[in-house]
Amino acid sequence: MKSLINILKWIAIVAGVLILLLVTFVNIRGNRTYDAPLPDLVASQDSAVIARGQYLAFGPAHCASCHAPMDKFDEIEQGLVMPLIGGWELNIPPGSFRAPNLTPDVETGIGSFSDGQLARALRYSVRQNGEALFPFMPFQNMSDADVIAIISFLRSQTPVRNDLKETELSFLGKAISAFGLITPEGPLSTPPKSVQIDTSITYGEYVANSVANCRGCHSLRDLKTGAYTGVPFAGGMPMESDPPIEGLSFISPNITPHLNDGIMANWDEATFIKRFRTGRIHKGSPMPWGAFARMTEVELKALYRYLQSLEPMAGKVEKTVIHQGEAPPS
Ligand code: HEC
Ligand code: HEC
Repeated sequence: MKSLINILKWIAIVAGVLILLLVTFVNIRGNRTYDAPLPDLVASQDSAVIARGQYLAFGPAHCASCHAPMDKFDEIEQGLVMPLIGGWELNIPPGSFRAPNLTPDVETGIGSFSDGQLARALRYSVRQNGEALFPFMPFQNMSDADVIAIISFLRSQTPVRNDLKETELSFLGKAISAFGLITPEGPLSTPPKSVQIDTSITYGEYVANSVANCRGCHSLRDLKTGAYTGVPFAGGMPMESDPPIEGLSFISPNITPHLNDGIMANWDEATFIKRFRTGRIHKGSPMPWGAFARMTEVELKALYRYLQSLEPMAGKVEKTVIHQGEAPPS
């Protein structure tokens, strides 16, 4: 009997020490910093460059959908242009993620960031202090010219003081970071210096993959790490409503040109453009419809041509809007 108690005691001690080591490891490594190059890109004061940056930020790259207060969301969707003072917040098991103030205020905004640090955040997902940014911003492969346009626009805004709470990782979030399940993502290959803006499939491919994140949402991915597990653009990714509405969630549809299973396979170009101009139909849909409604005709045509050029993929997403009580399609 005595020896059994002794064994149990030792097991408890060893387990306790292991847990302590784990907690210490996660707490130290959870905030680890990364070496990523500071891209040699410099903001410009050229008004055409700034205008392109504003167009991207409120349109296809939809920075404004997250870097503005949540109570301004509807007005921004409808066309309001305001300084990007931050405010969007997402509370998920890995932590509370907060989109910061992107106006040039020195203390609470990006006033203290160098151009290189801003470009590095977009291209390498590394924070000003070197820590990893969680994968909310898939702009790693954006062209040099578009990154310059965006940082030039950010710098051109009126500085607004807006002292927001910072992102806080939970123990799970730190563990994900500590064990390297999420590490800052860099570009797949050297991003282009610039891209020709026209109605070509090439430009559509660039917008869908490197700017507007169509691929990121319309592909099945591992919810914990963001890794792609399904066929790109074949949809099937479950997501919460944004802003969160109790009991409402979505599944992204298949947008490949599969005749039976693709949601837009039978749409002609005019139908596609009209759908984007209409904006949001389902309240709470996470797709930034308002931002995309601002896209130019050239951009929409290019997107349409690119999506139609994809290989048709079978796999119908039966329901894209799920109300509580309905069983999600399996
Ligand atoms: C889906 C929402 C979303 C979109 C779209 C988005 N951001 Fe963010 N952004 C965030 C969140 C959330 C954080 C904080 C992430 C974290 O703390 O890990 C962030 C952080 C940042 C940072 C902070 C880096 C640092 O050092 O702290 C910069 C700069 C930034 N975003 C710029 C942009 C720009 C420019 C765009 C558009 C091209 C954009 N973001 C689009 C959600 C978004
Ligand atoms: C943040 C995630 C997200 C992004 C980014 C996104 N989508 Fe969606 N998309 C969804 C979800 C969820 C739905 C289903 C709900 C709805 O129709 O709003 C959807 C629906 C659609 C539909 C069907 C609309 C209808 O009327 O049935 C099309 C077409 C579409 N997306 C194309 C695109 C294209 C093209 C892009 C890039 C320019 C894109 N999406 C970017 C999440 C996203």
